[in-house]
Amino acid sequence: MNIGIILGSTRDGRVSPQVGNWVKELADSRDDANYQIVDIMEYQLPFLGTTDGTEPGIAAWSEKINELDGFVFIVQEYNHGMTGALKNAIDHLRDEWHDKAAGIVSYGSTGGARAAEHLRGVMGELKVADVRVHPTLSLFTDFENFSDFKPADMHEENIHAMLDQVSAWSTALRPIRISDDVNVEK
Ligand SMILES: Cc1cc2nc3c(=O)[nH]c(=O)nc-3n(C[C@H](O)[C@H](O)[C@H](O)COP(=O)(O)O)c2cc1C
Repeated sequence: MNIGIILGSTRDGRVSPQVGNWVKELADSRDDANYQIVDIMEYQLPFLGTTDGTEPGIAAWSEKINELDGFVFIVQEYNHGMTGALKNAIDHLRDEWHDKAAGIVSYGSTGGARAAEHLRGVMGELKVADVRVHPTLSLFTDFENFSDFKPADMHEENIHAMLDQVSAWSTALRPIRISDDVNVEK
Protein backbone atom coordinates (compact mmCIF):
# COMPACT_ATOMS: atom_id res chain seq x y z
CA MET A 1 0.00 0.00 0.00
CA ASN A 2 1.26 3.45 -0.94
CA ILE A 3 0.45 6.45 1.20
CA GLY A 4 1.43 9.98 0.20
CA ILE A 5 2.25 12.65 2.76
CA ILE A 6 1.08 15.74 0.89
CA LEU A 7 2.70 19.09 1.74
CA GLY A 8 -0.01 21.73 1.45
CA SER A 9 2.09 24.91 1.37
CA THR A 10 4.37 26.26 -1.33
CA ARG A 11 5.57 29.65 -0.05
CA ASP A 12 9.25 30.57 0.40
CA GLY A 13 10.19 29.82 4.01
CA ARG A 14 7.32 27.36 4.54
CA VAL A 15 7.59 24.98 7.47
CA SER A 16 5.58 22.14 5.92
CA PRO A 17 8.69 20.12 4.85
CA GLN A 18 9.80 19.95 8.51
CA VAL A 19 6.37 18.70 9.57
CA GLY A 20 6.06 16.29 6.63
CA ASN A 21 9.52 14.81 7.23
CA TRP A 22 8.72 14.27 10.90
CA VAL A 23 5.49 12.44 10.01
CA LYS A 24 7.38 10.35 7.44
CA GLU A 25 10.05 9.41 9.98
CA LEU A 26 7.36 8.14 12.36
CA ALA A 27 5.51 6.42 9.52
CA ASP A 28 8.68 4.70 8.32
CA SER A 29 9.02 3.02 11.73
CA ARG A 30 5.83 1.09 10.91
CA ASP A 31 5.43 -1.82 8.53
CA ASP A 32 1.89 -1.24 7.25
CA ALA A 33 2.56 0.80 4.09
CA ASN A 34 5.11 2.59 1.93
CA TYR A 35 5.07 6.25 2.85
CA GLN A 36 6.36 9.00 0.58
CA ILE A 37 6.44 12.79 0.64
CA VAL A 38 4.41 14.41 -2.13
CA ASP A 39 5.34 18.07 -2.54
CA ILE A 40 2.75 19.94 -4.61
CA MET A 41 5.31 22.67 -5.29
CA GLU A 42 7.32 20.28 -7.45
CA TYR A 43 4.43 19.96 -9.89
CA GLN A 44 4.24 23.70 -10.64
CA LEU A 45 0.52 23.44 -11.24
CA PRO A 46 -1.05 26.46 -12.98
CA PHE A 47 -4.31 27.86 -11.64
CA LEU A 48 -6.94 25.46 -12.84
CA GLY A 49 -8.27 26.37 -16.28
CA THR A 50 -5.86 29.21 -17.02
CA THR A 51 -3.69 27.28 -19.50
CA ASP A 52 -4.22 24.67 -22.22
CA GLY A 53 -3.51 21.97 -19.64
CA THR A 54 -0.45 20.53 -21.39
CA GLU A 55 2.09 21.42 -18.67
CA PRO A 56 3.91 18.19 -17.74
CA GLY A 57 3.28 18.82 -14.04
CA ILE A 58 -0.47 18.39 -14.52
CA ALA A 59 -0.12 14.89 -15.95
CA ALA A 60 2.55 13.99 -13.38
CA TRP A 61 0.26 15.17 -10.55
CA SER A 62 -2.59 13.03 -11.87
CA GLU A 63 -0.30 10.01 -12.16
CA LYS A 64 1.06 10.47 -8.65
CA ILE A 65 -2.33 10.76 -6.93
CA ASN A 66 -3.68 7.90 -9.02
CA GLU A 67 -0.93 5.54 -7.82
CA LEU A 68 -1.54 6.28 -4.14
CA ASP A 69 -3.94 4.31 -1.91
CA GLY A 70 -4.22 6.90 0.84
CA PHE A 71 -3.00 10.27 2.00
CA VAL A 72 -1.81 12.26 4.97
CA PHE A 73 -2.39 15.95 4.33
CA ILE A 74 0.00 18.36 6.01
CA VAL A 75 -2.35 21.32 6.38
CA GLN A 76 -1.47 24.85 7.44
CA GLU A 77 -4.02 27.49 8.24
CA TYR A 78 -4.20 30.51 5.92
CA ASN A 79 -7.06 32.90 6.72
CA HIS A 80 -9.04 30.17 8.47
CA GLY A 81 -8.84 27.81 5.52
CA MET A 82 -6.41 25.61 3.63
CA THR A 83 -3.89 27.24 1.28
CA GLY A 84 -4.96 28.28 -2.21
CA ALA A 85 -2.15 26.08 -3.54
CA LEU A 86 -3.58 22.96 -1.89
CA LYS A 87 -7.14 23.71 -2.97
CA ASN A 88 -5.97 24.31 -6.54
CA ALA A 89 -4.01 21.04 -6.55
CA ILE A 90 -7.03 19.16 -5.21
CA ASP A 91 -9.35 20.74 -7.79
CA HIS A 92 -7.11 19.67 -10.67
CA LEU A 93 -8.19 16.03 -10.15
CA ARG A 94 -11.35 14.07 -9.48
CA ASP A 95 -11.42 10.28 -10.00
CA GLU A 96 -7.81 10.04 -8.82
CA TRP A 97 -8.98 10.90 -5.27
CA HIS A 98 -12.00 8.61 -5.15
CA ASP A 99 -12.47 5.81 -2.60
CA LYS A 100 -9.26 6.44 -0.70
CA ALA A 101 -8.59 7.36 2.92
CA ALA A 102 -6.91 10.43 4.37
CA GLY A 103 -5.53 11.69 7.64
CA ILE A 104 -4.87 15.33 8.43
CA VAL A 105 -1.98 16.81 10.41
CA SER A 106 -2.52 20.53 10.80
CA TYR A 107 -0.81 23.50 12.35
CA GLY A 108 -1.56 27.11 13.10
CA SER A 109 -2.29 29.37 16.06
CA THR A 110 -5.20 27.12 17.03
CA GLY A 111 -3.61 23.94 15.69
CA GLY A 112 -4.86 24.63 12.17
CA ALA A 113 -8.26 23.28 13.23
CA ARG A 114 -10.28 25.57 10.96
CA ALA A 115 -8.19 24.72 7.90
CA ALA A 116 -8.52 21.01 8.69
CA GLU A 117 -12.31 21.28 8.94
CA HIS A 118 -12.34 23.18 5.63
CA LEU A 119 -10.45 20.28 4.04
CA ARG A 120 -12.84 17.69 5.52
CA GLY A 121 -15.76 19.21 3.62
CA VAL A 122 -13.78 19.08 0.40
CA MET A 123 -12.81 15.45 1.03
CA GLY A 124 -16.46 14.47 1.32
CA GLU A 125 -17.17 15.75 -2.18
CA LEU A 126 -14.21 13.79 -3.55
CA LYS A 127 -15.20 10.50 -1.91
CA VAL A 128 -12.17 10.51 0.36
CA ALA A 129 -12.75 8.95 3.79
CA ASP A 130 -11.03 11.30 6.24
CA VAL A 131 -10.21 9.61 9.53
CA ARG A 132 -11.18 10.83 12.98
CA VAL A 133 -7.79 11.12 14.70
CA HIS A 134 -6.34 14.51 13.84
CA PRO A 135 -2.99 15.61 15.27
CA THR A 136 -2.97 19.40 15.72
CA LEU A 137 0.28 21.29 16.16
CA SER A 138 0.51 24.72 17.73
CA LEU A 139 2.60 27.49 16.22
CA PHE A 140 3.18 28.70 19.79
CA THR A 141 4.30 25.51 21.52
CA ASP A 142 5.45 23.10 18.79
CA PHE A 143 7.63 25.62 16.94
CA GLU A 144 10.41 27.92 18.12
CA ASN A 145 10.07 31.43 16.72
CA PHE A 146 7.15 30.09 14.65
CA SER A 147 9.69 28.51 12.32
CA ASP A 148 11.80 25.76 13.94
CA PHE A 149 9.67 22.70 14.40
CA LYS A 150 10.10 21.16 17.87
CA PRO A 151 7.02 18.98 18.36
CA ALA A 152 5.95 17.99 21.86
CA ASP A 153 6.43 14.26 22.54
CA MET A 154 2.71 13.71 23.09
CA HIS A 155 1.99 14.13 19.36
CA GLU A 156 3.79 10.94 18.38
CA GLU A 157 1.09 8.70 19.85
CA ASN A 158 -1.55 10.67 17.96
CA ILE A 159 0.34 10.40 14.68
CA HIS A 160 0.46 6.62 15.04
CA ALA A 161 -3.24 6.46 15.94
CA MET A 162 -4.05 8.53 12.83
CA LEU A 163 -1.83 6.30 10.64
CA ASP A 164 -3.52 3.18 12.07
CA GLN A 165 -6.84 4.50 10.79
CA VAL A 166 -5.53 5.70 7.41
CA SER A 167 -3.91 2.37 6.77
CA ALA A 168 -6.98 0.36 7.87
CA TRP A 169 -9.41 2.41 5.77
CA SER A 170 -7.10 2.51 2.73
CA THR A 171 -7.05 -1.29 2.86
CA ALA A 172 -10.79 -1.58 3.45
CA LEU A 173 -11.61 0.63 0.45
CA ARG A 174 -9.40 -1.31 -1.95
CA PRO A 175 -12.21 -3.57 -3.30
CA ILE A 176 -14.25 -0.46 -4.13
CA ARG A 177 -11.29 1.08 -5.97
CA ILE A 178 -10.86 -2.09 -7.98
CA SER A 179 -14.53 -2.28 -8.96
CA ASP A 180 -14.45 1.43 -9.90
CA ASP A 181 -11.49 0.70 -12.21
CA VAL A 182 -13.54 -1.98 -13.93
CA ASN A 183 -16.49 0.39 -14.27
CA VAL A 184 -14.37 3.15 -15.83
CA GLU A 185 -14.65 1.39 -19.22
CA LYS A 186 -18.48 1.35 -19.11
C1 LIG B 1 -1.61 34.33 4.11
C2 LIG B 1 -1.48 33.78 5.49
C3 LIG B 1 -2.61 33.70 6.28
C4 LIG B 1 -2.54 33.15 7.56
N1 LIG B 1 -3.68 33.03 8.30
C5 LIG B 1 -3.65 32.33 9.45
C6 LIG B 1 -4.86 32.05 10.14
O1 LIG B 1 -5.95 32.41 9.74
N2 LIG B 1 -4.78 31.31 11.27
C7 LIG B 1 -3.58 30.85 11.76
O2 LIG B 1 -3.59 30.16 12.76
N3 LIG B 1 -2.42 31.11 11.12
C8 LIG B 1 -2.42 31.83 9.98
N4 LIG B 1 -1.26 32.10 9.31
C9 LIG B 1 0.01 31.64 9.90
C10 LIG B 1 0.42 30.31 9.27
O3 LIG B 1 -0.38 29.25 9.78
C11 LIG B 1 1.90 30.05 9.54
O4 LIG B 1 2.64 31.08 8.92
C12 LIG B 1 2.36 28.71 9.02
O5 LIG B 1 3.74 28.55 9.27
C13 LIG B 1 2.09 28.59 7.53
O6 LIG B 1 2.50 27.35 7.03
P1 LIG B 1 3.76 27.25 6.04
O7 LIG B 1 4.96 27.80 6.82
O8 LIG B 1 3.92 25.81 5.73
O9 LIG B 1 3.45 28.10 4.85
C14 LIG B 1 -1.30 32.68 8.05
C15 LIG B 1 -0.15 32.77 7.24
C16 LIG B 1 -0.25 33.30 5.97
C17 LIG B 1 0.99 33.33 5.11
